[in-house]
Amino acid sequence: MRELFTKESDIQAMRQAGQLASEVLDHIAPHVQVGISTEEIDRLCHAYMRDVQKTIPAPLNYQPPGYPPFPKAICTSVNDVICHGIPSERILKSGDIVNIDITVITPSGYFGDTSRMFLVGDVSIMAKRLSQITFECMWLGIAQVKPGAQLGDIGHAIQSHAEKAGYSVVREYCGHGIGKVFHQDPQILHYGKPKTGDFLEEGMTFTIEPMINAGKRDIRTMPDLWTVKTKDRSLSAQWEHTVLVTQHGVEVLTSSQNCPEPPEIVKPQISGNTSIA
Ligand code: MF3
Ligand code: CO
Ligand code: CO
Repeated sequence: MRELFTKESDIQAMRQAGQLASEVLDHIAPHVQVGISTEEIDRLCHAYMRDVQKTIPAPLNYQPPGYPPFPKAICTSVNDVICHGIPSERILKSGDIVNIDITVITPSGYFGDTSRMFLVGDVSIMAKRLSQITFECMWLGIAQVKPGAQLGDIGHAIQSHAEKAGYSVVREYCGHGIGKVFHQDPQILHYGKPKTGDFLEEGMTFTIEPMINAGKRDIRTMPDLWTVKTKDRSLSAQWEHTVLVTQHGVEVLTSSQNCPEPPEIVKPQISGNTSIA
């Protein structure tokens, strides 16, 4: 299915869902340090959602066709894990990079989905660069969003920036429509050609969540059927926002007090048509 939000009440509800998802990341950020396990990160996030926000973690027991139920409240993807890492006893050590991906369901049934990279202790310049370029990829994709633009414009902006840096774009997973359903049409590919694909319309809400590998794009799925790693064991990074197509541009729904600001590289492109609050 595909939803188009035209009612102000739906849009307000999506703003709230997005902000709540982003606030879980603000809450966990100070805890993402050398020595914490990814399971402890999961526990802290789940407790905050349940007890403070009164939201439900969408991943918990999520079971698309062909998958076992996802066993935890959030995804934690460390180093060569591309996405859908399952929180475990694994202790974060200096030099790790970890993506934390939060999807909340609000009491009124709206979804907000966002993820950020965290650098643990002393991280190599290479790993920092991968995280930064991936952040820029997400934002260059966001900067393409406006009524009349096409899905291929988003994919192309992301792919060309990643490949110019010597990186590769994961093809098997993509962004997605989101609203009162977690994953729905359209699929937002993170690669493509300008002026191809479906046209964007005011009121659409979807995620942009590029997964960028330092090495080759190939993936391998672990026996748990969820964890996805790079085949060549190179590092992988991901950032994700949920966005709304507005009358003249885009609004980032998954923003909050401590959400990272857009990078310098998109500032000339987003002035005027992008709202972030
Ligand atoms: N939050 C992920 C996304 O961006 C989906 C996670 S599904 C899970 O679409 F079951 F792995 F949690
Ligand atoms: Co998503
Ligand atoms: Co997500």
